[in-house]
Amino acid sequence: MCGIVGYVGSRHAMPVLLEGLGRLEYRGYDSAGIALQRKGKFDLFKKAGRLDVLRGTLPKRNAATCGIGHTRWATHGEPSDLNAHPHVESSGAITIVHNGIVENAGALRDFLRERGHTFASETDTEVLAALIAEEFLLDTDLTASIRRAVSRVAGTYGIVVMHKDVPGLMVAARNGSPVVVGIGENEMFVASDIAAIAPFTRQIIYLEDGEIATLSAKHHEIQDFQATITNRPTSTIDVDTTLASKGDHEHFTLKEIIEQPDAIRRTLSGRLDERFKTAHFGGLNLDAKDLMAFKRIKILGCGSAYISGSIGASMIERLARIPTDAESAAEFRYRNPIIDPQTLYLAVSQSGETYDTLTAVQEIQRKGGTVLGIVNVVGSSIARQCGAGMYLHAGPEIAVVSTKTFACTLCAFALLALYIGRMRDVSPAEGAEVIRALNELPQQIQNLVERSDEFKQIAEKYAQYQRAYFIGRCEGFGLAREGALKLKEVSYIHAEAYPASELKHGPLALIDEQTPTFAIVPDDDLLAKNLSTLAEIKTRKGPVVAMGQSEVLATQVDDYIQVPGSHPLTDPILLLIPLQFIAYYTALARGCDVDQPRNLAKSVTVE
Ligand code: G6P
Repeated sequence: MCGIVGYVGSRHAMPVLLEGLGRLEYRGYDSAGIALQRKGKFDLFKKAGRLDVLRGTLPKRNAATCGIGHTRWATHGEPSDLNAHPHVESSGAITIVHNGIVENAGALRDFLRERGHTFASETDTEVLAALIAEEFLLDTDLTASIRRAVSRVAGTYGIVVMHKDVPGLMVAARNGSPVVVGIGENEMFVASDIAAIAPFTRQIIYLEDGEIATLSAKHHEIQDFQATITNRPTSTIDVDTTLASKGDHEHFTLKEIIEQPDAIRRTLSGRLDERFKTAHFGGLNLDAKDLMAFKRIKILGCGSAYISGSIGASMIERLARIPTDAESAAEFRYRNPIIDPQTLYLAVSQSGETYDTLTAVQEIQRKGGTVLGIVNVVGSSIARQCGAGMYLHAGPEIAVVSTKTFACTLCAFALLALYIGRMRDVSPAEGAEVIRALNELPQQIQNLVERSDEFKQIAEKYAQYQRAYFIGRCEGFGLAREGALKLKEVSYIHAEAYPASELKHGPLALIDEQTPTFAIVPDDDLLAKNLSTLAEIKTRKGPVVAMGQSEVLATQVDDYIQVPGSHPLTDPILLLIPLQFIAYYTALARGCDVDQPRNLAKSVTVE
């Protein structure tokens, strides 16, 4: 959600914070701010809008060597200068940046008002600042003050705090929102995401829930909320920071679509077993016997991760013939789910930080279930909470909408389907076919990427319509959901996905010449049924764009996108590519901010 960064050391803090915020802006981008600690006071700069708006208000130089920064995705209080972080408590003693939600902010605000505090913003964060300031009156130990303050807070938080009377000190605490500490040579960093720290140091410590880190230039100490010291060795991060830059591309979204062949090569790397015509994984921590004992698979995730899970479920059922379904992690965790020891749970998340997915994992584990992570960000909360699973190795994904990690997740499901399938009924010959298709996939995607002009023309033709349908069957319906989600996220066109089979049960009423339909039509057993659905749409004068492998389509629809067919497990990944380009070029044609769509954030670490 929001991005947090902090620095203490001997460099000027301002450029370090701005560099970090630039790398975090994808987490939230409706306002940004920094607080610099200087001569017993804070220099505070904060602005509604993108980071560039803040940059425009900053002095050329500021000598402070300790500071905190924040990029916001509003939860409590509209995006405005006042509601932007950092917040300074009314006496000016404390400044804080916060990611998360304080659920009892109302009651705490009333109590603090009685104690003489006033509040300039509508945020729950300002309440935290006042609460810590109140505790600081009892003694002048900032860490102890925070420990006492958070014991009165219900909700989630990752916070970093400075006090004007304790120069050169930052204290961070975590409960439910990620916080990572970076350790440099006589300098310390703190952030919500390693992306902000990676340009400066590779030595990091992830805070666990219920921990506080006290950081000065030369020292760090980690303790839990009971004040027990929990210091531990640092981990070394392996992040190619250049991957997180746009390079020559106009947008991260385009860059990430284009780099899918390489991303998929990395997902597949070392995982194809040509000898036994299967896949292998280093980190599942389950042997064949364990895996064979599961009678069902359930896949959980949010947003595109959830949709990828629904396609993955069809892939696994199709090849491995084990009952598999997908559910929104948020729905799952709130409905007191029955956890079945014979079900293998898979948690899918690009960021590894989505709060609803993380808490679904915790719910499964609490009830004794087995859950594996399918995660992109190494060392993220969900990866660590699961303790076993598969990394996607897609590289950093910065654009808010998921593109390459969606494709890599589908690859991961294909590998898993192959692996479990080969333990069950899939023959070596069938396994070899899947391996062939997976090996061919990067080049086939490259060929589609090179056809981007064709997809651009189609996108521009339909860009001014106000609504659209996306339809498909089986995995094709999952792709329709992803295509519709992508289009609505980046272009603000109302796009709805429907199973092609359901169209005649209602939505057909809305089909007219102003309502284009994007149809996913692979050349499979259901081709004839799909062609009938398209005829029903054409009869109602609805424009149709179809993507698939059958030349018959070319004569039946307004625009036909020929996508090569390869194998039922990899065809969905190929059909995905035109959908991504169509969303991207539609957003451009409508003048939308494709990398950072309005109201959204890359990583949703609040409920
Ligand atoms: C947000 C993003 C989506 C993403 C979803 C799940 O809503 O805007 O693009 O699919 O979170 O994120 P995750 O990191 O768990 O895959």
